[in-house]
Parts: sequence; C-alpha cells; structure tokens
Amino acid sequence: MEKAALRLDEEEVIDLPVASGTDKQQAIDIQGLRAATGLVTLDPGYANTAETTSSVTFIDGEAGVLRYRGYPVDQLVDHSSFLEVAYLLDNAELPTDEELDYFRNRVSEHCALPKGFEKVLESVPDGTHPMQKLAVSVTLLGSSRSDRPKGSEAYVSDFIRLIAMMPTLVAWSYRSGHDQVYIKPDPDLGYVANFLNMTFHPGQGDYRPTEAHIKAMEALLILHADHGQNLSTSAVRLVGSGRTDVYSSICAGVLALSGPLHGGANQRVIEMLEEILAAGGNTRLFMDRAKDREDPFRLMGFGHRVYKNVDPRALIIKRYARDMVDKNSSRLFDLAMRLEKEALADDFFVSRRIYPNVDYYSGIIYQAMGFPTEMFTVLFALGRLPGWLSQLREMMRESNAPIKRPRQLYTGYPKRDFPTRSDR
Ligand code: SDX
Repeated sequence: MEKAALRLDEEEVIDLPVASGTDKQQAIDIQGLRAATGLVTLDPGYANTAETTSSVTFIDGEAGVLRYRGYPVDQLVDHSSFLEVAYLLDNAELPTDEELDYFRNRVSEHCALPKGFEKVLESVPDGTHPMQKLAVSVTLLGSSRSDRPKGSEAYVSDFIRLIAMMPTLVAWSYRSGHDQVYIKPDPDLGYVANFLNMTFHPGQGDYRPTEAHIKAMEALLILHADHGQNLSTSAVRLVGSGRTDVYSSICAGVLALSGPLHGGANQRVIEMLEEILAAGGNTRLFMDRAKDREDPFRLMGFGHRVYKNVDPRALIIKRYARDMVDKNSSRLFDLAMRLEKEALADDFFVSRRIYPNVDYYSGIIYQAMGFPTEMFTVLFALGRLPGWLSQLREMMRESNAPIKRPRQLYTGYPKRDFPTRSDR
C-alpha cells in the first residue's frame, strides 16, 4: 500500500502517505493531516497510534513474536548474557569478545555507589516502597555527577554508570529496608552473581548464589530488557523529549513502571494467588470477579495491549519457574497453572484473547529465590534499564527530536463571561 485516501464528508479526498517498516509493518503517516485539514486524530491510550519509529525491538502481538535488534528473545536467553543484551540494545549489534571485555570492564569500574551515597537510602522514611527508593536514588545519582564528560561521550558514560550501579542500588534498596549491612560490589563474581551476592549475603562468613539462581536471574533480566513503546518506555521518551538529563528520564520510567497495570502486576500476581489460596483455592470466584464489569478486579498477570497470543516471555519464564519451585512454592505454582488452564478454557478470556503475560510466572521465581513481593517490580526495573536507555538514545539521535506534546479534542464549556457572585 503506497497511500491512504481520506474522504471528508462527500467531497474532498486527502491522500496520506503510508510509511513502511520491517516485516511488512505499515502506518498511515498523518504528520501533514492538521495542516491539510485542520483536523487531528483521536486515539485514547494510543491503541492505534505509532508515536515513533524504532529499530530496537520488534513485537508481533498476533503471532506472539519478540525480537531485540532482530534476534528472537528465546535465542538470546539460551546463548547470551544480560550485559551482552544491554550492549546489543544500545549498539544494535552483539559485541565482539574485545568489545564485550571493554564494556564489562567499564561496568566493573563503576558499580560502587558514590562515597556516602548508601546513607541516602538509610534516611528515607520506614515503609517506603523500594520502587520509590529506586526513583529517588536514580535522580540523586544524576545530581551527584560532577565528573560528567561532554558531548556524545556523556551519554555513553551515563549508560555505563547506570547499568553498573543499578544492581548495587537495587540490592541496597532491599537491604536498607531490612536492617542489613551494605554489601560492597564484587564485580569479579560477574554481573548477576554480584547482584545476588550484594542482595543476599548474610554479612559475615561465606556466601555464593547458586548456579540455578544465577541462570534464572540472567534469563529474567534478558526477558525484561526491552519491549518497544510500553508505558514506562514511553514515559522515559516523553520526559526525555524535554531535554531533561538521562537520570530524570529514567526516574520517570521507574515511577511509571510501578503501576499495577504495568510492571507492578508481578507483585500483585503473587498477592492474588495467595488470596485465592486463602479462599480455599476457589479460582471460580476470582474469575467471576474478573469478568464482572462492575468489579475493578482483574486477573493480574493476564492480558496485554499488544499480545493477542501468548506472551513469548511467559512461556520461557514458566519453564524456569517449573525448574525453580520446591516443596514450599509448588502450591503457588500449581495454583497458577490451574488458573491459567481454567482461564484459557473460559470464553470470556478466549474471546478477548487474554493470555498470561510476562508478569504471571516471574514472581514465583523471585519468591523462590528469597525476594519479598515488594521487590518484584524493582527487579523488573533492573531488567528494563537497558531498554529505557537505548530507546532514549535512539530518540535523542534523531536530529531535533521534537518535544512530545499530544493534541486533545476539547469538549468543555464554550466561551463564557465571569459571573458576579450573585449570579452564580
Ligand atoms: C506489562 O505494554 C507492554 O509492553 C507492557 C509490558 C512490558 O514488557 O513493558 O509487557 C509489561 O505491563 C504487562 C501487563 C501487566 N499488567 C497486568 O497483568 C494487569 C492485568 N492486565 C490488564 O489490566 C490488561 O490486560 C492490560 C492493562 C495489561 C491491557 O489492557 P488493555 O489493552 O487496555 O485492554 P482492555 O483493558 O481494553 O481490555 C480489553 C477487554 C476488557 O473487557 P471488555 O471491555 O471487552 O468487556 O479485556 C478485559 C477488559 O475488561 N481484560 C481483562 C483483563 N485484561 C483485559 N479482564 C480481566 N482480567 C484481565 N487481566
């Protein structure tokens, strides 16, 4: 299709160009619409709107396909590491051995928090959610940056510094809320093992995370690394389009991710499953609630704006969850599988093509590793960081990337004059 014809009432027809992307994806380009017709388009939630082009991640929601820079995500999980994937997302190519060594060394040099920074999290009010702690930390990391290089090296330096320090921040956001001592990073352990060590080290004696935990964490981080123009990435791009610093844009992503309909769902899946168990395993009651239009309850971990087939990440995560569960967590996993089976046999969900998404089984793995539910979305943010940074850089590489400022269709009062008090 080369162009689309827009007929306005019965007369004038406007030709609109059609933009083409990879794998036959196409979009009607309406950049000239308002100038030609005075009209804008209305699309609440952007369900029909591509706000940007991007070459980072490809998603085919109907087919359940997800690729980072062209590589199927299951192949990256099987053959790559999270640091390699972070490099791929930002540089568009997998690194050579030399490039990866250089990248890994730069990350290792920057994984310690600035001197005294750990006290920042010790001073937040008790009970602060770890996502809020992370948002505060990321913002302050940027403001405490006095040695930032200039020009294009500035972005690379910020990318490395955030990728390097995020595991330390996440580990400390957990330990500082549980009266545990700060564990310094040990980059020689490797990126993921170092993160698990900083999180779970008892503070004295020997501790090493198990290979199974390292492997499962690596897979989860890769699977969360990017996902096109999702809510939190869109927040990063929106805030970044105003030329804020990288850290403020990433802080916007962290806070956007925390919502229960987005990244916060992984915490609520476990809370929902535990509520079902407490109700005697009565899945029917919860499914009926999810189907009741008067009830705001939704099956957490189910449904997706883009996937109208199974989320490919959920299939892989379910496999790791099955390998990870033990006698303590098998009840929750068995219930999750039963609920999935019942939902996928129920016409309400089938007719709306509602399937398990990335958040449905991930919490079972996190819980089996020893993370409390309040940390689950923080772990999502740890994985999503390279995606946010790569998408932000892609936007800022565009010459004169425009400030993002959607239009509206005003439906309020027409002009009216100010009334005296007695006329109100
Ligand atoms: C993530 O966008 C991304 O890429 C996000 C993400 C990423 O990697 O960044 O993939 C991560 O956020 C995954 C989603 C995690 N959220 C949840 O699991 C929360 C539960 N899911 C729903 O709230 C919902 O499915 C959304 C928010 C995820 C998607 O909502 P949409 O696309 O706006 O769909 P909708 O609300 O218009 O629903 C369509 C219909 C409605 O019913 P009808 O009006 O047709 O009668 O499906 C129903 C909805 O009520 N529906 C559900 C449901 N999801 C949709 N009903 C019950 N339970 C659900 N989970």
